[in-house]
Amino acid sequence: MIRKYIFGKPFNTEAIVSEIRTEEGELSYGKICTEKGFSFTYEMEDDDMVYGLGEANRGLNKRGYCYVSDCSDDPNHTEDKRSLYAAHNFIVVSGKENFGLFFDYPSVITFDIGYNRSSLLQVTCDAADLALYVIDGANAYDVVKQFRSIIGRSYIPPKFAFGFGQSRWGYKTREDFRKVAEGYRKNRIPMDMIYMDIDYMEGYKDFTLNEEHFPDFPEFVKEMKEQGIRLVPIIDAGVKVEEGYSVYEEGVKNRYFCQREDGSDFVAAVWPGDTHFPDVLNADARKWFGDNYRVLIDQGIEGFWNDMNEPAIFYSREGMEELKATLWKYVEENTETIPVWQLGDQIQGLANNHEDYKRFYHNVNGEKIRHDKVHNLFGYNMTRAAGEAFERIDPEKRFLMFSRSSYVGMHRYGGIWTGDNKSWWSHILLNLKMMPSLNMCGFLYTGADLGGFGADTTRDLVLRWLALGVFTPLMRNHSAIGTREQECYQFENTEDFRGIIETRYRLVPYLYSEYMKAALNNDMYFKPLAFVYPEDDFAVRVEDQMMIGNEIMIAPVYTQNAKGRYVYLPERMKFVKFSKNGQITEEVLEKGHHYVEIALNEVPVFIREGRCIPVAKAAETVEKLDTKHLELLGFEGAEYMLYEDDGVHKDYGNPENYTVLRK
Ligand code: NOJ
Repeated sequence: MIRKYIFGKPFNTEAIVSEIRTEEGELSYGKICTEKGFSFTYEMEDDDMVYGLGEANRGLNKRGYCYVSDCSDDPNHTEDKRSLYAAHNFIVVSGKENFGLFFDYPSVITFDIGYNRSSLLQVTCDAADLALYVIDGANAYDVVKQFRSIIGRSYIPPKFAFGFGQSRWGYKTREDFRKVAEGYRKNRIPMDMIYMDIDYMEGYKDFTLNEEHFPDFPEFVKEMKEQGIRLVPIIDAGVKVEEGYSVYEEGVKNRYFCQREDGSDFVAAVWPGDTHFPDVLNADARKWFGDNYRVLIDQGIEGFWNDMNEPAIFYSREGMEELKATLWKYVEENTETIPVWQLGDQIQGLANNHEDYKRFYHNVNGEKIRHDKVHNLFGYNMTRAAGEAFERIDPEKRFLMFSRSSYVGMHRYGGIWTGDNKSWWSHILLNLKMMPSLNMCGFLYTGADLGGFGADTTRDLVLRWLALGVFTPLMRNHSAIGTREQECYQFENTEDFRGIIETRYRLVPYLYSEYMKAALNNDMYFKPLAFVYPEDDFAVRVEDQMMIGNEIMIAPVYTQNAKGRYVYLPERMKFVKFSKNGQITEEVLEKGHHYVEIALNEVPVFIREGRCIPVAKAAETVEKLDTKHLELLGFEGAEYMLYEDDGVHKDYGNPENYTVLRK
């Protein structure tokens, strides 16, 4: 049962696709106050758990902290952070009462989930202009499925996107990319994609290529494809201000950029220097921006990642003027002691300054909307621009697309990666906990920068993180310029890396099949144990093990120097280890607590009682996997319903895509 309540004049975010009648009167749960802004309060029971919020910090159960949906370009994901890159305003209260709440509000909104007072859930925002959806359910899982059914089907990538990808900020020339391809192919480590970060462009200009480094790009794309490798370029939100650059000129001429109040194009400094932001909330501008992806598609590109689309701002002209004024003041007044820490704060505060969000506007159906009021919709609509364009360019074909910033609704157009994490052990766990929360909000094609983006990584950290990455639909090793190189072939004993990535490829038939079933049935691919074993008091509190699809549980190792880990089995399971040289060991473990040994080069999987999973022979690329001859691992007599399609087109409804396999 889903109820919709309207307060004030909400902005139409198009997050919800189903028609739902608006209710009048009291809410069945909690209290609303619209006297000063908007607030929702609910008194929680001691044992209530709160799920949701998608890409957010901390645990799976969100209780005990305060989270703010305010898409932010912040690369330091420490525990105290309240906002990350996304705004996924859906929560589920699970306990005596089970219900979900979606606050469809595109600006800053705060979720205090037992932070100020441990029993109080309080959701507040400045303007009482929003749509609130209240979902009654039998349990948390049921609530999630209902929510998923009203936000539209999750994005489905091409099958090659289930392969492994290598990325690093700093690859510049064809030679750099060839070196990566060679590093993987020579070491016989499977790989399907190499990502192109900003240096492939000319002067960081979207939809351009550095001609000197890529004299014949289509030829180079072909050369890589012949090795089974797809190049996946980045597209940034800001369009460089430069006379003669056609994207800039078209945007200016057609008034497609976000403008200041006086009608001038707003200028924000990002990688290229001064940029304008395409007004992706304006349908015409969105279409125009999206059509630009064709430039690269025509050269053989089949996938992209959208970045800096919170949108990130290093500084604005206005911010710089303010800083100059402060500096001049010190000079003119001949201040003896300059408060450098204050100055430092002001300089740091130039970036992603909320004041800047009040300095530009969107043109939505002829209405001028100040950016701060719809801030959380920018990344969503940038990715929507691309998604809608792909539909026009090649309606039958699937393109790879994922974004950094997002809002619910964007899940229909692309996946996400979780941005600039660090090479920290704690971030493996954060990665794991975020995945089911993202699934609750519709984002199925997700993953983190494996090995860690910022800070220097270590061999063991990369191996352990990859072993989790085996199960994330997006499996990509990515790192920041200036950090230790972390391509798998940079470390000793590359066969350990090969083994783990080969395990991914062996599992692709299962992982893809489960992904597709989840997408087609508005279901989750990553599930908390609580959703599958709601009656098991111990299982419902487990946050470092997850269910993947319907047949398996995973329990990654995420601590330094560990030789294994404790694991809780909510039922009898088959403990399968993928080890060195493709060896597989199997052991049935009874329900309960166990310590299991897991070496650095092993991937553990727990198959549920009476179930089995298909496993292929490893291959260099997803396309080369032999999916006709699959081995079944698990319990004798078990059946598995395999979903398979050509991985390229959109013939999802074909009954021939399903085959029953019997062990
Ligand atoms: C920020 C992104 O989060 C990161 O992945 C990328 O490498 C840099 N921008 C440079 O493009």
